[in-house]
Amino acid sequence: MNKADPLGFIHRFVPGPSGRTLLLLHGTGGTEDDLLPLGRALDAEAALLSPRGRVLENGMPRFFRRLAEGVFDEQDLIRRTHELADFIEAAAAHYQFDPKKLIALGYSNGANIAGGLLLLRPKALGGAALLRPMVPLMPETLPDLKGVPVLVSVGNQDPIVPAENARELIALLRQAGADVTVCFENAGHGLTEATLASARRWLAEKAP
Ligand code: MLT
Repeated sequence: MNKADPLGFIHRFVPGPSGRTLLLLHGTGGTEDDLLPLGRALDAEAALLSPRGRVLENGMPRFFRRLAEGVFDEQDLIRRTHELADFIEAAAAHYQFDPKKLIALGYSNGANIAGGLLLLRPKALGGAALLRPMVPLMPETLPDLKGVPVLVSVGNQDPIVPAENARELIALLRQAGADVTVCFENAGHGLTEATLASARRWLAEKAP
């Protein structure tokens, strides 16, 4: 447990009038404040739950350790994924939201831990928008993600995520039964207006 916060993660919670909650997961070097404006811009009525990653890399918050860019410390990733899932359960009880209507909106490192949740703790989320994700790990057994809506948003010139890796992730999620929407765009690792427009559309059309 993180002593700074009784639920285990430093976080922000912003209530919203709809039954949906967005779980905002920042990229490397981000904080719990970073994605609040984006979350609100994509969904005016959802509640927002935004934790800060508990790992520090040269002072920059992340959601799990990596050994090099794109090379993950798998044991740490597994442990941190379970910590985050436990935080979600505690936050759902504390703030009274329905985890089935919890949609992760993760960017980069945040998208990768959201992928970890889908693969290792699939009941933690009702869906996920993964912006510039990679395969976080290969699970020992395939989770049951039947019908779970997932957006995978890929930049075809992303220097951090090879397109082949993103394709593997899409195949893995589909094999697990997820309802995957793919958005390949002419972009790098950064988010573009087109990324945000597709996320907004996907939320309106697919997310519970
Ligand atoms: C990661 O470490 O999760 C990915 O390399 C993305 C990043 O944070 O740069």
